[in-house]
Amino acid sequence: MPQFSLKVDGEEAVVPAKFTEGLHESCPVRTFVGRDLARYDRIFSHLASGGIAVISGPVTALNKLLVYVQRRSTDLKPRSESILSQLVVLARNDNCEGIDPPVRIPYLHEFCGEASLAKDQALLVPLTALRSLQDALAQKWQVDALGTWIVAGDDVITPKSQETTGLFREAIAAQKLCLPRGAQVLDMGCGSGVLTLLAAVSLEDLKPKVNATDVMPEATASTRLNVARFADEGLIAPNTVQVLTAGNLFDPVGDACFDLIIFNAPWVVAPVGSRADISLNDPKQKTIARFLEEMPRHLEREGRLVLGYADNSGQGAVDRVLEMAENDGLRVLKERSVRVQTHRKKRKWQRIYVWEMGRNVD
Ligand SMILES: C[S@@+](CC[C@H](N)C(=O)[O-])C[C@H]1O[C@@H](n2cnc3c(N)ncnc32)[C@H](O)[C@@H]1O
Repeated sequence: MPQFSLKVDGEEAVVPAKFTEGLHESCPVRTFVGRDLARYDRIFSHLASGGIAVISGPVTALNKLLVYVQRRSTDLKPRSESILSQLVVLARNDNCEGIDPPVRIPYLHEFCGEASLAKDQALLVPLTALRSLQDALAQKWQVDALGTWIVAGDDVITPKSQETTGLFREAIAAQKLCLPRGAQVLDMGCGSGVLTLLAAVSLEDLKPKVNATDVMPEATASTRLNVARFADEGLIAPNTVQVLTAGNLFDPVGDACFDLIIFNAPWVVAPVGSRADISLNDPKQKTIARFLEEMPRHLEREGRLVLGYADNSGQGAVDRVLEMAENDGLRVLKERSVRVQTHRKKRKWQRIYVWEMGRNVD
């Protein structure tokens, strides 16, 4: 369901699409603050009758209320799946208003899955979602290829496999020899921004311009956060990276052409069941097919593609990618691969491929 707005104390506040399940525009909205926050029974009855409770107060009081609602909601018949998302806080300009001590999360709108809302547009964020985002961002993922850690928001793929980032580091560094100074680079499907940063660091001598994009605003927000920290700590030069507004494949880049395009493509050929599945699942390989079809229009004549894929859905899926690439006028210049353990139950091992590709000029 798309995002919608609700009136909170006479002002429009948006419920991000990601949090709309079970909610609708006619849900009654009430604010609970000060003494009202301690009236658990009243708040719970409001929620149980389909209302949205906008809460505000000390973080300990909000957490106690959440525990109470969680406990009571298990007794509800019929069970309500959405009751926890009806307990919301108001956020604006990256600040969660009314939480004491204040909570500030940069790029909060994008982390809530909204790419194009004005920063000062008020949002209603479920308290559970806010806590889950805070927990996700508190986790530091060590990336050996970068020699430091990075963070990732909810539903964004984390760089768990050192072998995979290691392969990309080799493949990206190998491009140094053929890229021009000031090379224009695109990291498609940037996720946490791990490959964006790898490109910025590995190609530093060339003073590249690295552009990053992803279909998920949560991913562009994660990349922005990591890029900002790298720039602050002097790990990359300022203005090396530009993170674009989230969008489908090449939509955010317009007609731009690149000297190097990097894509660690989603490689599980399966339907998308949850938001987190967008990171890895590519139903019927439609995304990789469209990427390979459109890619040549965005690649300079002598440009290079560094493409990652895996045999998680069988060798046939890998062969199909290579076949599509060839049909779209590309040829493999070098293949790197490594067998890695997966974190999935069904398939314990998979082979990761990273190909360097160029135009087939024959
Ligand atoms: C395998 S993950 C790679 C993430 C990151 N580059 C890395 O290496 O960890 C694939 C990424 O592609 C993104 N993606 C999926 N479909 C896309 C699309 N149609 N347009 C742009 N990005 C897409 C996903 O959101 C995800 O971040």
